[in-house]
Amino acid sequence: MNNGEIVCTGLVKTYNVGQPNEFKALRGLDLTLSEGECASIIGPSGSGKSTLLNLMSCLDTPTEGEVYIEGIDINSLNGFEKARLRREKLGFIFQQFNLIRGMTSYENIELPMRFKGLPPKERKKRVTELLDLFGLEGKERNKPTELSGGEQQRVAIARALANNPKIILADEPTGNLDTKTGEKIMDLLLRLNQEEKKTLVIVTHDQRIAQQTCKVVEIQDGRIK
Ligand SMILES: Nc1ncnc2c1ncn2[C@@H]1O[C@H](COP(=O)(O)OP(=O)(O)OP(=O)(O)O)[C@@H](O)[C@H]1O
Ligand SMILES: [Mg+2]
Repeated sequence: MNNGEIVCTGLVKTYNVGQPNEFKALRGLDLTLSEGECASIIGPSGSGKSTLLNLMSCLDTPTEGEVYIEGIDINSLNGFEKARLRREKLGFIFQQFNLIRGMTSYENIELPMRFKGLPPKERKKRVTELLDLFGLEGKERNKPTELSGGEQQRVAIARALANNPKIILADEPTGNLDTKTGEKIMDLLLRLNQEEKKTLVIVTHDQRIAQQTCKVVEIQDGRIK
């Protein structure tokens, strides 16, 4: 089964449908990302990059058009099936990290595995493995406010990878980091693409980041340029 493939066809996203301030953020967008592909999505502020990523993430539904994840039309899924697909196939990374404030690094990374219903022993093994992989040993008990930006983003990436998804979707993952820390985070993401053949989609403003990906998708006014 087309592992890690994402196909978008004729995507239209209209916000505030029928209202005077109706706005078409996507105006008919087609995009195919194959298994193991590494793509960046670039374009001016407001061009529809996050909108597109949210549709690919099943966080939002298109006004028209379809998104297929591994051949499955995500619109055909019910809420329960969608949640499972998100939990098991997709990993998300956000510019603002979006960690849960009241939880430690350990608990944040463990959370998707709890939702999946993995037994405690297996969860512990995987969290330990991820803490180690991302150089977060000694930080497992820290809450997000007790971590640096780069550390928070590493926890967020570890959390995104907890259930070993085939697809990683990242919206400005280095936007809140200094150049050097941002480079380290990019190296990590690119390694996951190269070594584990995960499909990687990165929204970025940064030309230097876009240059590191195999495919650059440029969006302007809700369409591919
Ligand atoms: N919930 C919403 N309701 C109304 N309009 C919205 C909503 N979300 C986004 N928009 C509009 O849709 C357009 C695309 O937004 P989007 O967030 O996709 O842009 P972007 O390319 O990610 O920009 P940036 O680089 O600034 O993050 C913008 O003009 C925005 O104002
Ligand atoms: Mg955005």
